[in-house]
Parts: sequence; structure tokens; C-alpha cells
Amino acid sequence: MQVLTNKRVLLGVTGSIAAYKAADLVRRLREAGAEVRVVMTRGATEFVTPMTFQALSGKPVHLHLLDTEAEAGMGHIELARWADVILVAPASADFLARLTQGRADDLLAAVCLAGGRTPLAVAPAMNAQMWASAATQENVRLLGQRGVLRLGPDEGEQACGEVGAGRLLSAEAMILQLAQLFAPGSLSGRTVLVSAGPTREAIDPVRYLSNHSSGKMGFSIAAAAVEAGARVVLVAGPVVLPTPDRVERTDVISAMEMHDVILNQAKEADIFISTAAVADYRPALALDEKLKKDDSRLKLDLLPNPDILAAVKQQFPRLFCVGFAAETQHLADYAQQKLHKKGIDMVAANWVGPAAKATGGAFGSDENALHLFWCGGELELEQASKDKLARQLVSVIAQRYVLHERPDSDSEGNKVINIKR
Ligand code: CTP
Repeated sequence: MQVLTNKRVLLGVTGSIAAYKAADLVRRLREAGAEVRVVMTRGATEFVTPMTFQALSGKPVHLHLLDTEAEAGMGHIELARWADVILVAPASADFLARLTQGRADDLLAAVCLAGGRTPLAVAPAMNAQMWASAATQENVRLLGQRGVLRLGPDEGEQACGEVGAGRLLSAEAMILQLAQLFAPGSLSGRTVLVSAGPTREAIDPVRYLSNHSSGKMGFSIAAAAVEAGARVVLVAGPVVLPTPDRVERTDVISAMEMHDVILNQAKEADIFISTAAVADYRPALALDEKLKKDDSRLKLDLLPNPDILAAVKQQFPRLFCVGFAAETQHLADYAQQKLHKKGIDMVAANWVGPAAKATGGAFGSDENALHLFWCGGELELEQASKDKLARQLVSVIAQRYVLHERPDSDSEGNKVINIKR
């Protein structure tokens, strides 16, 4: 599949035994439609000859920072400007350290430094102990914070005979992740967990506590996430809505049930969008028989329900979590508070109650407006049908997810960390 058509990939090859795999990567990048230019470090040339990359890329290979001819033709600034993405594969431990320090003592380091807003991706490949070392891990963490996209490494048997994390990620996986950079609205290959609707908290067999949530927003979001290419798992409270096409749905009634199902499903998810209006309290005792009335005053003893969203974020800190804030006043303040209190990645806030009436109302209505907040940013999505709004929201979530992507598993270690600098 030509997922990188017309994209300019500047491939940096550094001194690692996996350098030979970069030759195949060039071939595959070109098969995927990309134009490729290769920059090699001196270490890389000890493993593979520049001629190999020249033949495979069809372009001269760039080697020296102070090569006057290369500087005149295409120096580090021009190379950085030329690229749509800079990919360093394999990235040795030494190169990651130099990148972290912001060195410009060879051509590749200088190109990376001059890259500005060009996305920079690194595919580490090294001995498992070198990968696990505190220095490398710290470098990788810092690079991730600066928005460098990390591809891999993979786990398995290594050239040095050790087994562990440190193998170069496969060319296919790298190309797919690069393709994500250029399709920011896409969620293909991702699992999105959505909660929707109200919950019902039983008082007795015929009565319950609940709220006005219709579930429409959550169902529209589930459909939009399918459209964006995701596998979608929907956990729905009691609502009267048909299941959107290709959505895997589980129905629940109470907050406790929703809590258990969601925490179980969260294990497999990349993104959790919590639209459910979970009842904050439940009767301490759900009576087995119908409560009979008399003339005396009735007091209900209520217990707080667990905060499902906060629990998910706490248990799966790397899951990208989006919460909703339905407010009757101080929308921005309360939304920001929820963002920080629950430690989540985004809050979608909307008016409910009398304040929402002016704009068509949220609960049960087919329209809504959303104000999105994340750490350091916000975006208002104007009043629109819930379907349209859901598509816009999913597109923003996909973009923010790519920007802040966190692997859901340490064991694989081969997921995207971060993209734009
Ligand atoms: N939520 C949750 N579990 C709860 C309550 C809320 O997962 N027990 C989630 C909702 O799905 C929503 C977000 O938390 O994404 C905000 O819910 P909301 O009820 O508006 O906020 P609360 O944290 O309950 O605060 P308050 O009711 O005081 O506004």
C-alpha cells in the first residue's frame, strides 16, 4: 500500500549492527511511495557502504557536515528543509545521547537540530543492556518530552546473543507509524473504548436513581471512531439507541457494573472516551422487595460510586483518556479542574440545564456544542448535530493522541511516543 506517496523521508543511519536492515527499509519506503535521501554517520559506514544506500535510494548519500561540495549542493539546512519527516533508523545509543544533548558535531546531528518543526522519529537499535541502561532510558524520556517520535525497539534475540528489548522495529511497523503522521485524523489500528448513556442505581426492584443522559453523544462518537478506522468497544448504560455499525457493544445498568466492564476492556484500549453520565451515588441498600409508602419522611442513604474515568487513568496511565464535563455554570473552570483532578488528557465540556436551553440543550437533543480543554490548549467546537460534532471531536482526539501517544504496554516498547516538535 502506498501510504507515503510523495512524502520526503530523510533517513539517518547510525552505527549499529542493524544498519544493514536500513537498506531494506529504504527499499520499502520507496515502495510505499516515499522519496528517500540518506544521511550516514561515520559509524554507519563501518557497517554498510554508502554505495548500497545510493543504489537503493537513487540519490547521493550525504556523509559529511563540512563537505564543501555537499554544503554547496544540499547542506544540513537544505536537507532539513527538504524533509517531510526525519527518521533515524537504526538510532544507536550514542546517537540518542548526542541528539538529547543537541550536538551538531556531524551532519546527521546537525540536520536533526536544524529540523525545526519537521517531525523527527528515532528507531533505537542496540544491545538490550545498553537500551535498559539508566542513561539511555533518560535520554529517550527527554526526547519523548520534546516530541520526538519513538519507533520501537522490538524485543527478541539480538545479534550479540542476548535476548531482550533493543532490536530494530520491523520496516512495516515503522512505515505504518510514519504514515500516521500524515493522516492525523486516522485511528486505524487503534482500539477506542467509549462509555455512553446514564447508569441506573436501584432503590428497589421497580425504582432507581438516574439522570437525563440519552447516550446519543457517546453513540455518535463510537460511530465516528469506526469511520476513523478504529476498533470500537462501546459500554452503554440503559438507552434506547441502535448499535452503530461495526461497534462492539456491551450493555450495563449500574455504575458498579460499568466500572467492572470498563476496567476490564481498558486493558486492550488505546483511547478511552468517557461520555457516560455515571451516577455519582447509589443507594447503600437496594431493597429486594418493593418499598411500600407511608406518611413518614423517607431518607435515602447514598454511597459514592467509584469515579470510573479516574480509576481507568490511574490503573492505565498511558491510556489516552477523554472525559466529559456537563456543567450548569463555570464551564471552563470546572472542566479544567476535572482535567487536572482526574489526570486525564482532554476534557470535552458542554452546557446542560437552563444554560444549554439557549443553544438547543444537550441532554436528549440532537445537537450540542463542545469546548475542549487539554493541558496547554483549548478548542471550541460550535453548535452542530451530535454526529458532526462527534466526527470533529474524534479528529481532534486522533491528532492529540498522535501528539501525546503513550504505549499501553511497557513490554512491547514499540509504540509511538510523540510526534511534532
Ligand atoms: N465519570 C466517571 N465515573 C463517575 C463519574 C463521572 O467515569 N462516577 C466520568 C464521566 O463519564 C465524565 C467525567 O467523569 O467523563 C465527568 O463527570 P461529571 O459527573 O461531570 O463530573 P464529576 O467528576 O462527577 O464531578 P461533578 O459531578 O461534581 O461535576
